[in-house]
Amino acid sequence: MDGITRATLYTTYTRITVLAHLFGILANILMLIWLLHYREGLDLDSSSPYRIFNVHPFLMFFGFIFLTGEAMMAYKTLPADRQTQKYLHMFLNLCALVLGVVGIHAAFKFHDKMNIVDMYSLHSWIGIGTFCLFILQWLFGFSLFLFPKAPPVIRARLAPWHIASGRMLLYMAICAAETGLMQKFTFMQLTNNHESYLINFLALLILLFGITVDLSVLWTFRLSNAL
Ligand code: HEM
Repeated sequence: MDGITRATLYTTYTRITVLAHLFGILANILMLIWLLHYREGLDLDSSSPYRIFNVHPFLMFFGFIFLTGEAMMAYKTLPADRQTQKYLHMFLNLCALVLGVVGIHAAFKFHDKMNIVDMYSLHSWIGIGTFCLFILQWLFGFSLFLFPKAPPVIRARLAPWHIASGRMLLYMAICAAETGLMQKFTFMQLTNNHESYLINFLALLILLFGITVDLSVLWTFRLSNAL
C-alpha cells in the first residue's frame, strides 16, 4: 500500500477516534445535566429511592460503557509500548467492572426500597446478561494475555475471539442503556419537553459513542494491514 493511502487511512482513523471521545464526553455531560438538573441528583446512601436509583444510569454509562470504550481505544491509541497499553486496557476494564457492580447494586437497592420485583424487564435481562459475559471476558483476557499467560500460538488463535467478543459486548451494553433510558422515560413524570429532548439526545450520543468506538477499533486493523 502506498504512502498516500496509509496517510489517508491514518487521518480517517484520527478523526473517528476524536469523534468517539467527543461523543462520550458529551453524553457524560448530558447525563449529569439530566440527573442533577431535571432529577433529584444522585446519592447511593440517600433516604430518597430516586437519588439512589440515579446512581445506576450514571455509573452504567460513565463507569461501564464509557470506560470500556476508552479501554478498547487505549489499546492502540496510547503512545506507549505494548506492555503499558495492555496494562492500561486491563486497568480501565477493571475500573468499569467495579463501577458496574456498584451501578447494578444501586438498581437493586432502588427496587428493594420501592418493593418492586427484581429482573422483570427486558432491560434488566439484557443488562445482567451483558454484565456476566463482561466478567467472563475480563477473566479470560487477564489469564490468557497477562497472567499466567497462554503460549504464543494459543494467544494468537484466541486474540480475534477476544476482540470480537469485546465489540459484541460494547453493542450489548449500548442496547442495555437504550432500553434502560426507554424504560425510565416510560415510567417517569417528565418535568417538561426539554427533558424529553435531552433524554433523546443522550440516547443518540450513547449510540454514536458505541458506533465510533467500534469504527476506531476497525480502523486500527486496516492500518496494521496497511503496514
Ligand atoms: C443509561 C443507562 C441506563 C438506564 C437509564 C437504566 C435504567 C434502568 C431502570 C429504569 C431499571 C429498573 C427497572 C428494571 O428492573 O429494568 C434498571 C434496572 C437494571 N439495569 Fe439499568 N439502566 C441503564 C443502563 C444499564 C446497563 C448498561 C446495564 C448493564 C450492562 C444495566 C443493568 C440493569 C440491571 C441488571 C437491572 C435490574 C435490577 C433489578 O432488577 O433490581 N442497566 N435500569
